[in-house]
Amino acid sequence: MDSQTQMKQIVADAAIKEVKSDMIVGLGSGSTAALMIKCLADEIRSGRLQNIRGVATSFQSEVLALELDIPLIDLASVSQIDLAIDGADEVDPGFQLIKGGGACHVREKLVASKADQLLIVVDETKLVQSLNQSFPLPVEVLPNAWKHVQQMISKMNGSSSLRMATKKAGPVVTDQGNLILDVLFDYGIDDPKDIEMSINNIPGVLENGLFVDLTDKVMVGKIQDNVPIVYSPSKVG
Ligand code: 5RP
Repeated sequence: MDSQTQMKQIVADAAIKEVKSDMIVGLGSGSTAALMIKCLADEIRSGRLQNIRGVATSFQSEVLALELDIPLIDLASVSQIDLAIDGADEVDPGFQLIKGGGACHVREKLVASKADQLLIVVDETKLVQSLNQSFPLPVEVLPNAWKHVQQMISKMNGSSSLRMATKKAGPVVTDQGNLILDVLFDYGIDDPKDIEMSINNIPGVLENGLFVDLTDKVMVGKIQDNVPIVYSPSKVG
């Protein structure tokens, strides 16, 4: 196992200790969340956790949960989720996030906003001092609006590219049937709340990957003296 996978595995294992029986749990997307979902299935199978119901944030997490026999309930039929556990692409010291590296941020944000607690699980490569210095902000757009949105974002000093698929000709198509623009602002993002709202105000935008003031706790996996460990940083500000 490479060192990044070791960091992801240890943080996924640690996150499951926060889950209690009878909880409705938001199941995040991406490789770290997938490891967490596998740990959750193990804990259900062992009997430590009972009466767990999951809410999937993507086609990926839904398929995995079904394969692992984790009972699922539909997002539309839940008004409240006890705990959502998800990964992130960037985490700043104030726990503001960029998500959407897997193009799942629309449902991920819906699940996060319905959750009493949002726990973010990352390896330490995801910690940044300031957002969007290197990782582009994913923006989900209606297919026939992408050019218009691109032009509007360029007026905000953002350069964007349409995310292209691998093993398929043409663009990535999201779980909702839309497209993704990946946006880098000339000077990064120093006011995530303002950028989140400004982008979502552009006609044709479904949602962007800024998660502002949603995160309750961050768990970080890192390698120290060749040993994988987990810690929870304190929120700054
Ligand atoms: C998917 C996400 C993921 O949580 C994010 O991309 C992190 O993924 P990984 O754990 O594979 O690094 O936001 O839309």
